[in-house]
Amino acid sequence: MRVLITGAWGQLGQDLMRAYADAQVLGLGSVEMDVTRAEHTRRAIADWRPDLVIHSAAYTNVDGCEADPDRAFRVNALGTRNVALGCQAAGAVMVYLSTDYVFDGRKVGTPYTEYDRPNPLSAYGQSKLAGEEYVRDLLDRFYIVRTSWLHGLHGKNFLRTILTNACQGKELAIVDDQVGSPTFTADLAPAIRKLAETGQYGLYHMTNAGACSWYTLAKQALAIAAERLPELAKKTIRPLTTEQLSRPAPRPAYSVLRNYNLELAGLPRLRSYEEALREFVLALDME
Ligand SMILES: NC(=O)c1ccc[n+]([C@@H]2O[C@H](COP(=O)([O-])OP(=O)(O)OC[C@H]3O[C@@H](n4cnc5c(N)ncnc54)[C@H](OP(=O)(O)O)[C@@H]3O)[C@@H](O)[C@H]2O)c1
Repeated sequence: MRVLITGAWGQLGQDLMRAYADAQVLGLGSVEMDVTRAEHTRRAIADWRPDLVIHSAAYTNVDGCEADPDRAFRVNALGTRNVALGCQAAGAVMVYLSTDYVFDGRKVGTPYTEYDRPNPLSAYGQSKLAGEEYVRDLLDRFYIVRTSWLHGLHGKNFLRTILTNACQGKELAIVDDQVGSPTFTADLAPAIRKLAETGQYGLYHMTNAGACSWYTLAKQALAIAAERLPELAKKTIRPLTTEQLSRPAPRPAYSVLRNYNLELAGLPRLRSYEEALREFVLALDME
């Protein structure tokens, strides 16, 4: 089994590289393979002759995408088309990583299934959804994996920033009216590998179980961190509304993904986000 991973030095990419450590795996960053360059991408994929390509690379800065939608569509939509064309030419199966931000968040209280209609609010969500459409149009053998609120031990993410700021004594104010499912990349990466071994192609939601707001998540993370660093127990967090925070890109108020196709197929689901959060915070290098 020959595997190629794009975005290999990103947060999820690094855990995917670990999940495939015993396979013949090639990890590429944007320097080795810039997915916006169609011919270069096709050749890089052809040269490795992969059986499977996991396309984790993306322009993931949600506010950056809003400020520069051309870049968002160039990387996330056309870049994904280029990877899909490379897979088509090489006869490789493709896994495409997509996002909860394809939904508008108006289905409050009932998690989104794979059978709900996307309606992205932001340029990031629109460009990732366009990537999904290219994959479906160009390939017969693919998995589209929508996930949400990633945190990993090897990358930049919300929780690392919050805990670092807490350690540095900075004031913490966090949005409390956006709800989603935090997902640990160390859980997601091996689950993607298991899914890719089934041959049950299609669209899958894949997140840790359970849901919370960013504010609740930060409070829970801080409480766990205080077990290691007792001075953090005194730290308070101020809840904010989305309106008060006033970020450039609109975000869905509720983007919990029910892992419905995994359920229906009887495939294993990820553990609770609280359990994963505990492992993440206790292993994180915070100081
Ligand atoms: N982060 C989340 O909360 C979240 C939630 C839902 C879905 N997702 C999806 O999950 C996937 C992984 O996310 P992540 O958080 O691991 O992202 P990440 O840490 O930002 O990593 C993304 C990687 O993509 C690479 N990249 C950017 N532009 C590229 C280009 N033109 N050509 C090739 N590579 C390029 C970057 O490589 P360089 O650094 O070398 O430029 C970066 O290492 C993405 O597809 C994302 O859309 C993420």
